[in-house]
Amino acid sequence: MTDHFPARMHDVTDETRAIVDLVLDYSRQRLLAVDTPLDKPLPPAELRRLTGRTIDADGIGARKAIGVFEHILAPSCISTDDPRYLSFIPSAPSKAAAAFDVVVSASALYGGSWLEGAGAVHAENEVLRWLADEFGLPQTAGGVFVQGGTLGNLSALVAAREAARARFDERTDERADERAGANDGADDGAGATDAAARGIRPDRWRVVCSAEAHSSIASAARVMDVEVVAVPVGSDGVLRGDAVRAALDEHGDSVFAVVATAGSTNFGIVDDIASVAEVARERGVWLHVDGAYGLAAILSDRTRSLFRGVELADSVIVDPHKWLFAPFDACALIYRDPAQARRAHTQHAEYLDTLTVTDDWSPSDYAVHLTRRPRGLPLWFSLATYGTDVYRAAITRTIDLAQRIADEIARRPGVSLVRRPQLGVVVFEREGWQAADYARWSSDLLERQHAFVTPSSHAGRTNVRFALLNPRTTFDDLTGILDTMF
Ligand SMILES: Cc1ncc(COP(=O)(O)O)c(C=O)c1O
Repeated sequence: MTDHFPARMHDVTDETRAIVDLVLDYSRQRLLAVDTPLDKPLPPAELRRLTGRTIDADGIGARKAIGVFEHILAPSCISTDDPRYLSFIPSAPSKAAAAFDVVVSASALYGGSWLEGAGAVHAENEVLRWLADEFGLPQTAGGVFVQGGTLGNLSALVAAREAARARFDERTDERADERAGANDGADDGAGATDAAARGIRPDRWRVVCSAEAHSSIASAARVMDVEVVAVPVGSDGVLRGDAVRAALDEHGDSVFAVVATAGSTNFGIVDDIASVAEVARERGVWLHVDGAYGLAAILSDRTRSLFRGVELADSVIVDPHKWLFAPFDACALIYRDPAQARRAHTQHAEYLDTLTVTDDWSPSDYAVHLTRRPRGLPLWFSLATYGTDVYRAAITRTIDLAQRIADEIARRPGVSLVRRPQLGVVVFEREGWQAADYARWSSDLLERQHAFVTPSSHAGRTNVRFALLNPRTTFDDLTGILDTMF
């Protein structure tokens, strides 16, 4: 007979102890497993059949529920930390970071305000400071960890538009003052101010980025109801200042932000941030650097110089859940002048006044969110545990591996590089294959649990992409996959 005593869920009892043991035992075993299977998804009907109904009025009990997770649900999720997971952007959390995520959940931490989470926010800010120093941003820079690059880009662009609006409003006020001075004594009232405002505010805001920028920029633009000016790039995929200048000439004051991509998703190509920054500065336009995937490579001496100009950004993102070895999900969003972001993002409500009337640093004030877990803590713990040098070494190792496999592809008959890699994404074609051949090969690889490599495309031609970032991926893993194409 099930006990419906309400505090059963919260009191520390023998049942509670057994539940916690089950969950921690499973977590321990998964974290320490040497060889986890790659796994693959099952169709919905099959999952329904295997799990049966798991939610009813009485519950099925922790032992049965964790059994369902371990034997049915988990094997139906691809292990993104598998060294032969090479699709999209993989994830390879360090053991310290992944383990500490359990602590974050266990500790009932709230990361939205300084009042409630000062200790956690302090540690997150130390990580953000370290990143800001690596990027060369000023001491005044600061920000927040948000859920992912999509939300980071949106939050940065919202702050940028708010700053542009404020600049227009200031100019409008100055014009109105000038008119009032000129018309001293004439009674044209507020109408003059309105007309001036109508005269200079753009009817449509625009954001300029490369045609190869991540889809989240277009998504942010849709949410914000602004237009994307996608600037075409040359065959090397790099956005440069000249192309941005032409776009700004065409669209004038309606452009509130320019986005430079520090490592495109499809190719890992880094825009010429320095020349883009120069144009943005010259025109007084906000520069946002989307380094969600690639900016981590600034930590390696091999690639640091590719990111010249990032120190001039008004806002910048990098996702620790990608190449900084943190678990899902975390994006570090940093502003050059956090006060501008705070003006754009602080939520005001009577019950929140106690938080927002102070000068305390509350992470909720810097992005499109309110409640938040301190998702930067796993990265903090991992950095504190291992130090930063091993991060540099792990990233450098991947960059070297990408170069080595690119050389191998260039050398092998029957396959050819689409572009020479700059970071850890290697894109190539198999001679004579059509889209259906790539699709068949890819599902067969997963079916045989050999690797997870999905097709991509460029300029209408299907190709295949090795997205490398897991330090456990070896050259032999990659040549073994190439061998399966013949
Ligand atoms: C360059 C770039 N920007 C933004 C994003 C979006 O990040 P997220 O998937 O964390 O929302 C990605 C994701 O791959 C990316 O590569």
